[in-house]
Amino acid sequence: MIITLTCNPAVDQTVFVDRLDVGAVNRFHDAQLDPAGKGINVSRVVHRLGYPTIAFGFLAGEIGAVVERALDDEGVQSHFVRLPGQARINVTVVDEASGAATSLYGAGPGVSAEHAEALAQILAYWVQAGSVLVLAGSLPNGLPPDTYADYVRLARAKGVKTILDVDGEAFRAGVAVGPTRIKPNVREAERLLGRALPDLPAVLAGARESLGQGVEVVVISMGAQGAICVEKGQAYRAVPPVVERRSTVGSGDSLVAGLSLALARGEPIRDGLRLGTAAGAATAMTVGTHLGTADEVKSILPQVVVESVA
Ligand SMILES: Nc1ncnc2c1ncn2[C@@H]1O[C@H](COP(=O)(O)OP(=O)(O)OP(=O)(O)O)[C@@H](O)[C@H]1O
Ligand SMILES: [Mg+2]
Repeated sequence: MIITLTCNPAVDQTVFVDRLDVGAVNRFHDAQLDPAGKGINVSRVVHRLGYPTIAFGFLAGEIGAVVERALDDEGVQSHFVRLPGQARINVTVVDEASGAATSLYGAGPGVSAEHAEALAQILAYWVQAGSVLVLAGSLPNGLPPDTYADYVRLARAKGVKTILDVDGEAFRAGVAVGPTRIKPNVREAERLLGRALPDLPAVLAGARESLGQGVEVVVISMGAQGAICVEKGQAYRAVPPVVERRSTVGSGDSLVAGLSLALARGEPIRDGLRLGTAAGAATAMTVGTHLGTADEVKSILPQVVVESVA
């Protein structure tokens, strides 16, 4: 079982207009409403790839109910602590004339100490049924930056492996306690290390530097260029095939899904990297916040190149 945690879920609405006219009434002809949140995306991809998963986290109000219902419709199990207030709707307007996407993101409801404790108790119970806990996405107001660090410790105490995918202070605090795997993109890795990673050798050196103190595998993703992955004594580069890119929202989460699946099955990192890279590319081919399907992942899988690098 792969357990995911999303502390700040939302609903993403993507609307498509012929040409965005700021300050005027714009009529959109196409709209998508998707549950959003990094851990939620990981669970959705894991489920599509046929492995058991449950999504945990916080949800609020009617928008929260939309998230729950969408997961239900897809057959993804979930268990959320209810918060007062309202979850966010993140609106993205796609101007089809220019291809530019404009996003409006809200903050989401804050989390009180009581709600945080309620989630911690549920997680402490459920990690016993899991083999991997995925911690992904930003923390809402009210939760301190060391929240993920606490969950990493909690999981480890029960023999459960962890994958951390978050930015900024929460990433730094989480890495310090040694999650099993981490998956920053280049910008997140730069912020973690406090320096620029301008080319492949720099990314590789940065990944190696982040190993240790419990971190067994570091994957730094590089969008269409694939990913660098290091474990003790080994380093790999994964390269996806060239695909028709529509929207890469959720590509990182799809990569994390592949990594978590291989970890849960006890497969070598190369396999997780290959699966994750194919899933990331499949998601890059979908519009808006849609995620790749199992069939798409399967067809891309043989085209992914995973090679050892020195
Ligand atoms: N344009 C693309 N073509 C092919 N594969 C892609 C493309 N963009 C992303 N991918 C695949 O998805 C993986 C993760 O993408 P990326 O590095 O953009 O993650 P991210 O920045 O964490 O994204 P997210 O917005 O989901 O957090 C890449 O390593 C690659 O395998
Ligand atoms: Mg990401």
